[in-house]
Amino acid sequence: MKHRIAVIPGDGIGIEVVEQGLRLLDSLKLDISYQKFNYDANRWLEEGVGLTDSELENLKENFDAIYFGALGDPRIPDSNHARQILLKLRFDLDLFANVRPIKLLNPDLTPIKLSSGQTIDCVIIRENTEDLYRGIGGSFKEGTVDEIATDQRIHSYKGVERIIRYAFEFAIKHNRKKVTLVDKVNVLIYGGSLWNRVFEEVAEQYPDIESDYMHIDVAAMRMVTDVHLFDVIVTSNMFGDILSDIGAGIVGGLGLLSSANINTETIGLYEPVHGSAPDIAGKNQANPMAAFITLSMMLADLGYPHAQLISAAVEECIRDGLTTVDLGGDLTTHDITDIIIDKVTKQL
Ligand SMILES: NC(=O)c1ccc[n+]([C@@H]2O[C@H](COP(=O)([O-])OP(=O)(O)OC[C@H]3O[C@@H](n4cnc5c(N)ncnc54)[C@H](O)[C@@H]3O)[C@@H](O)[C@H]2O)c1
Repeated sequence: MKHRIAVIPGDGIGIEVVEQGLRLLDSLKLDISYQKFNYDANRWLEEGVGLTDSELENLKENFDAIYFGALGDPRIPDSNHARQILLKLRFDLDLFANVRPIKLLNPDLTPIKLSSGQTIDCVIIRENTEDLYRGIGGSFKEGTVDEIATDQRIHSYKGVERIIRYAFEFAIKHNRKKVTLVDKVNVLIYGGSLWNRVFEEVAEQYPDIESDYMHIDVAAMRMVTDVHLFDVIVTSNMFGDILSDIGAGIVGGLGLLSSANINTETIGLYEPVHGSAPDIAGKNQANPMAAFITLSMMLADLGYPHAQLISAAVEECIRDGLTTVDLGGDLTTHDITDIIIDKVTKQL
């Protein structure tokens, strides 16, 4: 079956890394077609439009997946367009599971000390549609010394249950042994209690998977001191956002971290974890590897075995020191893509 991919490059280095990702995809000569969409900062500034309901409907009805770059532009300091586009996609498509693999591809890339034979290989499953990200809150007496501002953390039973169940199902599917719930039940007693009760309820239905709980502050420390304790982590939107950047920091940085936004009832959205990096945009300097691993996640979910070829080529480049500046090398975005395309196509 021919697959159709909607491509949203976005802003800054999003455009550059997605362009290289598409070169890599082209080189695989798969029965996949794609169409690019300019849902980005320029369109927002020129037309005041983010993503309309009919455009969203088109993506849902006519495509099998979305390959996304990043959104963020210094000309839009409040990032309103990003909320109108990326958060609209995540919320309106109800892409409730944000899957972020944290895998060390080479021991030289981690700033932390690992015992011999130890590696880093865990997955963060971040709830993607609730919590502090719903924009519920307000401010009172704004701009005065009496100002009060609130951002509401919201969790529904349905939202919590489905992400926890997704984490256990993910563990089974990917042959993982343990699911750790990360939250802050000692302080955030209402939401925390909901997460913990549902976690226990669901964990009982998966007796072959070990389960445990950790407070977010302890988990942040343990990600650095004892990362081998983690296998699958399930957590809320805000904590997952922060924890996955710690994850990026211990495996070589944002240039390597990929993610999938999933709801098995609809199309998935695949994006590198990094943003638009205005500091290096347009310099042919961005590391496209996160976009390649993202592409490989998308291909794996669509059922293509080529996903493995991409990961292997990326790993080989890192092992051989063939990298962009962020990983200590001197290759450009374009050069590293050429090398990876060469490695992958030799295996076809
Ligand atoms: N999902 C998204 O679209 C997303 C995610 C995060 C940030 N943003 C937006 O991106 C803009 C910049 O945000 P930021 O600077 O906090 O985060 P960022 O991820 O864009 O950059 C953080 C740092 O990491 C570096 N970096 C990131 N990706 C890299 C890559 N592939 N190769 C080499 N270096 C890389 C950047 O140069 C920068 O120094 C903001 O507008 C922010 O809102 C968007």
